[in-house]
Amino acid sequence: MAALAKTRVAILISGRGSNMASLIAAAEASDYPAEIVLVAANRPEAPGLAFAAERGIPTRALDHRAYLSREAFDAALHTELKDAGIDLVCLAGFMRIFSAGFVESWAGRMINIHPSLLPLFKGVHTHEQALAAGVRLHGCTVHYVVPELDAGPIIAQAAVPVRPGDDAETLAARILVQEHRLYPQALALVAAGQVSLDGDRVMFSGGVQGTDGALLSL
Ligand code: GRF
Repeated sequence: MAALAKTRVAILISGRGSNMASLIAAAEASDYPAEIVLVAANRPEAPGLAFAAERGIPTRALDHRAYLSREAFDAALHTELKDAGIDLVCLAGFMRIFSAGFVESWAGRMINIHPSLLPLFKGVHTHEQALAAGVRLHGCTVHYVVPELDAGPIIAQAAVPVRPGDDAETLAARILVQEHRLYPQALALVAAGQVSLDGDRVMFSGGVQGTDGALLSL
């Protein structure tokens, strides 16, 4: 019997790409429902590009500084994604805001990982924001991407305690461990069709909500 076709995924990065590496590692399993067919960066010097290339994954560097406008960069990226037959886009430390038109053309087919328990602490410096707010729990979120920054429907979250003496670095390191666990789980749910977007609601099927470990861990 022919195997079910895997979801064709592109990962977009701007930097070191440790979340990208965790997705690539997960997708090496034969029963993982997604395959990573492209890694693209808006910075040619992004260290994650070399890591992906070493693993035989096609890479593209689209230097955003070479484009006259945000829309021109987004159009070039859109063409790359279409040419590669991409079904789903995973943002993994992609530090560039898209035009609304680009986001709309990938609506329900683009997800992101953000280092906070959204809707708290959007934008950058999330660990500093959490420390300043004095929260006792912090974490990470995988969500669908919508035009408003870090505001999309939430797929999965993992929480960590904030400990006395934590600074932004210790907190970031504790959360990164959870990011590397959560993102591959969330991508698997989306790629397998167990999670989907219905308007602005995330829909779960197959009893996913019962598996606490996949959606919220402490
Ligand atoms: C991660 O903390 C991710 O949540 C955020 O940017 C960071 C990227 O790290 N969006 P890496 O490039 O995946 O190592």
